[in-house]
Amino acid sequence: MDWGLSNRIARIIKPDTGRTVMLAVDHGYFLGPTSGLEHPKTTIAPLIEFADSLMLTRGILRTSVDPKANIPIILRVSGGNSIVGKELSHEGIITSIEEAIRLNVAAMALSIYVGSEYEHQTLINLAKLIDEGMKYGIPVLAVTAVGRDMERDVKYLSLCCRIAAELGVSIVKTYYCEGFEKIVESCPVPIVIAGGKKLPEYDALQLAYNAIQKGATGVDMGRNIFQSEHPVAMIQAVRKIVHQNISPDEAFKLYNNLSNKLSDH
Ligand code: 5RP
Repeated sequence: MDWGLSNRIARIIKPDTGRTVMLAVDHGYFLGPTSGLEHPKTTIAPLIEFADSLMLTRGILRTSVDPKANIPIILRVSGGNSIVGKELSHEGIITSIEEAIRLNVAAMALSIYVGSEYEHQTLINLAKLIDEGMKYGIPVLAVTAVGRDMERDVKYLSLCCRIAAELGVSIVKTYYCEGFEKIVESCPVPIVIAGGKKLPEYDALQLAYNAIQKGATGVDMGRNIFQSEHPVAMIQAVRKIVHQNISPDEAFKLYNNLSNKLSDH
């Protein structure tokens, strides 16, 4: 195993628990000023200390994160599409490997759209990125993005995760679904789950708990944290589920206690 690659992965997936809390704030790359992320600097700053890594684009990294912050960066390097464009899957690689090295990233992230019009292009993008990353010991995380009308079910998501693993990714990001343990069993690399659309806080905590109990290595959560009424409380509750296996009830209690305390200030 390559030392640099292993070291970078160990900065993301904490060796003491074997788990990770990634904070995803990359939504603007195709969604523009997403609710809760209109002012990325303000959103990100209070959450950094509770995240194991930050997933974002170079533009938001350069403008909105203090270079002195001690946080591993997962740099989104795929894009070139938008929510109002013709086809979401029409993505390319938008950031060079030299830029990733210059930004001292811990990993690079790219979306694949299996079953979509540009499936082939996104899978080739992934394979090329892995080759580039391997030259310098930089791991790649594949995001199993889903086209507008696609089912997020076990059959489809295990297909996506396994393809990403076969192409050589170090980590896969996917969605939680019924039968999630089957996705984990058939994927030889760690899986983290996206939170998806904003849910009531208890439901989001339950989602994180279920995913962890069924074998996820962690979460790469965005909207359910930064769109929460109390993002700082929410990330701490999620963190305890991921790293300490607390139940959704305990986590929700913690969320409420922290929210009350934080509102007092
Ligand atoms: C977009 C992404 C987002 O980072 C991702 O969906 C995670 O955020 P959320 O928890 O809000 O779903 O990769 O393709």
